[in-house]
Amino acid sequence: MSLSILTAVSLNGMITPAHGATGESLIPLLETPRRVLEWKWRIRRRAHAVLAGTGTVLVDNPSLTSQSAPRARPPVRVTLDREGKIPRHYRFLDGSARTLVGVCETTPREYLDFLASRGIEPVVAGETCIELPRLIAGLAERGLSDLIVEGGGTLNRALLREGLVDTVYLMLFAAVLDSGSVNLFADGGPLVRFRLESCERIGDFMLSRYGVVR
Ligand SMILES: NC(=O)c1ccc[n+]([C@@H]2O[C@H](COP(=O)([O-])OP(=O)(O)OC[C@H]3O[C@@H](n4cnc5c(N)ncnc54)[C@H](OP(=O)(O)O)[C@@H]3O)[C@@H](O)[C@H]2O)c1
Repeated sequence: MSLSILTAVSLNGMITPAHGATGESLIPLLETPRRVLEWKWRIRRRAHAVLAGTGTVLVDNPSLTSQSAPRARPPVRVTLDREGKIPRHYRFLDGSARTLVGVCETTPREYLDFLASRGIEPVVAGETCIELPRLIAGLAERGLSDLIVEGGGTLNRALLREGLVDTVYLMLFAAVLDSGSVNLFADGGPLVRFRLESCERIGDFMLSRYGVVR
């Protein structure tokens, strides 16, 4: 198993411009150079699947397909939705790429039927909530053992707390954002140390890779 977090982050650790705002809006706001986006897409392409949290899908309505994979191989998308909250017209559920959704035993039957009608695969990973180790194991059983996580902060922290994170790829941008927005690792948790494995500068962006010290 390999699990990496991939995210753009401000100097003060924030990943959205304001509370409830989309992280994607940072791209034009920061005049993100094409080379930075290519770095991100390259990392995405190497993975078996891209995992995004419920909050991220609700706010960003991402497709995760655009320029994220060579045309011949669309990326596999994964999210979590234990209550069937993601609106059914959202891009994530449009059936345009292989999509899996982490659910639990209490997820409404009618929602599971909807997923089935779109060819979306549910991964049952807990009784009333989604247990991340079970979800990750369920993905590995389906051949998806190399994952890129594109947040947000709540999911990132939960994965870190569970000891499931191996690597963090950061696109550190030279700006300070509202500290009431979403932190890269929201909520509490124990100290986790990282080793800086590589870094590269592109304009005002610092692209770096950190490995978790176990
Ligand atoms: N700058 C960037 O590169 C970047 C990248 C990604 C995201 N973002 C931004 O991050 C923001 C969203 O972050 P967020 O922290 O609000 O939400 P999030 O991390 O995307 O999703 C968290 C939600 O996932 C659900 N969940 C289900 N099981 C879980 C589990 N075991 N552990 C953790 N979460 C679980 C929970 O919702 P339920 O309780 O409803 O089940 C939880 O509130 C968006 O604004 C997005 O734009 C930025």
